[in-house]
Amino acid sequence: MQVRKLTDLDVAGKKVFIRADLNVPQDEAGNITEDTRIRASIPSIAYCVERGAAVMVTSHLGRPTEGTVGPDDTLAPVAVRLGQLLGKPVKLISDWVDGGFGVEPGQVVLLENCRCNAGEKKDNEALAKKMAALCDIYVNDAFGTAHRAEATTHGIARFAPVACAGMLMGAEIDALSKATENPARPLVAIVGGAKVSTKLTILRTLADKVDQLIVGGGIANTFLLASGKRIGESLAEPEMVKEAQHVMDIMKARGAEVPLPTDVVVADEVSKLARANRISVDDVGPHDRILDVGPKSSVRLAEIIAHAGTIVWNGPIGVFEYPQFAGGTKMMASAIAHSEAFSIAGGGDTLAAIAKFNIADDVGYISTGGGAFLEFLEGKALPAIAALEARARD
Ligand code: 3PG
Repeated sequence: MQVRKLTDLDVAGKKVFIRADLNVPQDEAGNITEDTRIRASIPSIAYCVERGAAVMVTSHLGRPTEGTVGPDDTLAPVAVRLGQLLGKPVKLISDWVDGGFGVEPGQVVLLENCRCNAGEKKDNEALAKKMAALCDIYVNDAFGTAHRAEATTHGIARFAPVACAGMLMGAEIDALSKATENPARPLVAIVGGAKVSTKLTILRTLADKVDQLIVGGGIANTFLLASGKRIGESLAEPEMVKEAQHVMDIMKARGAEVPLPTDVVVADEVSKLARANRISVDDVGPHDRILDVGPKSSVRLAEIIAHAGTIVWNGPIGVFEYPQFAGGTKMMASAIAHSEAFSIAGGGDTLAAIAKFNIADDVGYISTGGGAFLEFLEGKALPAIAALEARARD
């Protein structure tokens, strides 16, 4: 992917507009509960500030109604956190689209939630042009929002004097490309989560590419159904059985495999106090719920991971939030941590599992993207990256 890079530009004295993804979770009192995305955005901002640029940063937060900034929509808590991480105050600017606010070289301001501006979501051209007029250089560092064609992620890139990728965007593109273009083999993908239906496109895409496709959670239950097993009252989508069968057929025809569990951990409810039983997959009773893979299957999956050349991970294997159902995901995390393979992980639940099992330093690359991560793996052109590529051909 050919995009202009921030680090190749002279930013001194320039007005730089950085579109970051600072869409972070907050508790009811508005406290930021997880700040990875803010931290990941710091290198590009610091790079520009240290070189004497006047820096404007913006992001969306949530999915607000355009035209107003409600109390839950404001980036005020993000401005405070950004200031702490940068070691300098970051002023929050409202009503910024028409300019009229000051920002000096070496300063950073945060422009209020860009999704509150009328026309942002629909990539309105007039809005994009106004925003482009605020800057000399537009930097897109919002990989997490790269799958959205909105005015700050797409339109502005067409009209700004210069458009480039920030350091985070560059790192994400490099890491995901390494895992998808000519990956070291065997290429192993782990796709967990509740529903086949929400991950069908990625499952189909991976079926054509990977050597082993490890499925987890409700997705694995649907695959078990498709292979003729009884799954009791486990979470699954019987209407997706044909799709699951199709994925297994594609894999089989290529000499690749979907390694399904031979033993499972079941309970009659999903709760902290639920009593877990380890049983053969052939012994699942009518009222059982499969909530994790069993120890034999865990060992088999860990062996597959141990021999991988590249590992792509999205979604947990079991209900890892409760210790009695965490074994499969924990074993998987540990196998990834000890593997020599290049590993890449993305998605909210996956990041939570990485944090829980404390393996962040042992994963090759942890993506800040959820939907964007999946769409990149699906081979889709992400509009924000496509816009930067188009400008690189100017
Ligand atoms: C995300 O959290 O995945 C990104 O910030 C994109 O948010 P969106 O799905 O609201 O566009």
